[in-house]
Amino acid sequence: MTQHVEEIEAADPARTTTDVAIVGAGYVGVPHAQVFAEAGRSVLLVETDQGRVDQLNRGESYIEDVPSEVLGRLVREGLRATSDYDELRNADAIVIALPTPLSPQREPDLSIIIAAVKEIAKRLRPGHLVVLESTTYPGTTRELLAILERSGLEVGKDFHLAYAPERVDPMNTTWKTQNVPKVVGGITEACTRRAAELYRSAIDTVHEVSSPEAAELTKLLENIFRSVNIALVNELAQLCERMNLDVWEVVEAAATKPFGFMSFKPGPGLGGHCIPIDPFYLTWKAREHNFYTEFIELAGKVNENMPYHCRSLVSQALNHSKQRSLKGSKVLLVGVAYKEDIGDMRESPALKLIELLRNAGADIAYHDPHVPELPEHGLVSVELAPALYDCVVIVTAHTSIDYARLVEEASLVVDLRNATGRNGTGNGTVWKL
Ligand SMILES: NC(=O)c1ccc[n+]([C@@H]2O[C@H](COP(=O)([O-])OP(=O)(O)OC[C@H]3O[C@@H](n4cnc5c(N)ncnc54)[C@H](O)[C@@H]3O)[C@@H](O)[C@H]2O)c1
Repeated sequence: MTQHVEEIEAADPARTTTDVAIVGAGYVGVPHAQVFAEAGRSVLLVETDQGRVDQLNRGESYIEDVPSEVLGRLVREGLRATSDYDELRNADAIVIALPTPLSPQREPDLSIIIAAVKEIAKRLRPGHLVVLESTTYPGTTRELLAILERSGLEVGKDFHLAYAPERVDPMNTTWKTQNVPKVVGGITEACTRRAAELYRSAIDTVHEVSSPEAAELTKLLENIFRSVNIALVNELAQLCERMNLDVWEVVEAAATKPFGFMSFKPGPGLGGHCIPIDPFYLTWKAREHNFYTEFIELAGKVNENMPYHCRSLVSQALNHSKQRSLKGSKVLLVGVAYKEDIGDMRESPALKLIELLRNAGADIAYHDPHVPELPEHGLVSVELAPALYDCVVIVTAHTSIDYARLVEEASLVVDLRNATGRNGTGNGTVWKL
C-alpha cells in the first residue's frame, strides 16, 4: 500500500462520518468526547458495556466530571455511543482510552488494549489516525504497530499512529481536559504532526516530542514523581509521630518557600487508577534492561505500608484515650473514596484499612456521601452519627462534611487527612496522622 494519506483524503473528502471515535467511555474517554464535541468535532464513543452505551445515548453521565446537562446537550447536538466496532471504519481518528491494569503478580496487563487493537486492525483503512492515550510502558505503541500493520497498511503513509498520554485529574475544576497541555509523540514525523493537529483542534496547548516512547515515559515520570514525593512525606509522618511533631504543620511551613519546594501531603496510602499502578509498568520494563528502579520500589513499599500504620494509629488512639482494644470497638470510617469529593473507589486505601481493622476484630461502618455502598464488604453508607462509635476515622476529607461538628460530637477522632486542622485538637480527642 503506497498511496499517501493526503492523496487518499483528497480523493474522497466526504468519506467519513465521524471526526473522532473514542474507544473506551470511562474517566478519560467521556471528558475527551466532551472536549472534542464542544470544539465542533463529530464524536463517537465506542464502548463494550451496553449499559453504559445506553446511558450515554440517553444523555445520562456516570462520570462526575461531565454533568448530565452537558452530556445531554452534546447528545442532542450529535454525540453518540455505540458498541459496534464496525463504526470505526467511518471515523477519521481513533483514540484509545482503555484500562491498563496490573496482573495479580503486579505486571503490566495489556490484554484489553491488545484485544481492542486487533479489532481496530480488522477495520483499519487508508487515512486513519490511531492514537493511544492509556498509560503504559515505553515501547507499547510500537508493539501495537505490529498488530495494526497486519492489515497490510503502512504507518506514516497509509495510516498514522501516535501516543498522547491522558493527564486528567478527576474533579479538578481548574485543570481540565481542555487546558491541560497534551504531549504527543508519533511513530513518524507525519504521525506526530497529524495527531498534534487533531488535539490542537480541541485542546489549548499541544507539546510535540520526538517519539511515542518519549511520550510514554513522560507520563510515567509524572506519576512516579508523585508516588515518590508522597512516600517521602508518608515516611516523614511516621518519624514525626515518634518525635511528637505535627507533620502537617511542618509541610505547611515548608510550602511557604516560594521556590525549590513542592507540597505533597501524607495520607493513608495511594489510591486511584494511576499512582499506585503506573510506576510498576516502568519497573517491569526496566528489568528487560537489567535495571532496577529503586526509587519506585522504595516508594511503593512506604506507601503500601501506610494502611498498616494507620491501623496501629487507630489502635493506639483507642488504647490511650479509652482503654479499649480494636477488638470489639465500633469504628466509623468517614470518606472511603480514594480522593475527596469523588465516588471513585479504585485502589482506595480505605478498602485495605477496612480489611485490616476487621481482621483486628473491629466492628466497621462507613459514611461517604459519594459512595452509597461497598457490596464486596457487605457495607452501605450509614448516617453520620459520630456519637454512636468508639472511634471515628477520617480517611478521605470530602468538603461537604462539617468537621468541626464531627469533632464536637465524636468521643474520639483519628484524622488521617488533617481535615480537622489545628483547631480540631482542642478537646484532646483528635489524633492526627
Ligand atoms: N482515570 C484517570 O484519572 C486517568 C488519568 C490519566 C490516565 N489514565 C489512563 O487512561 C486509561 C483509561 O483509564 P480510565 O480511567 O478512563 O478507565 P475506565 O475504566 O474509567 O474506562 C474504560 C472504559 O473502557 C471500557 N472498555 C473495556 N474494554 C473495552 C473494549 N475492548 N472496547 C471498548 N470499551 C472497552 C470499559 O467498559 C470502561 O467504560 C488507563 O490507561 C489509565 O491509566 C486514567
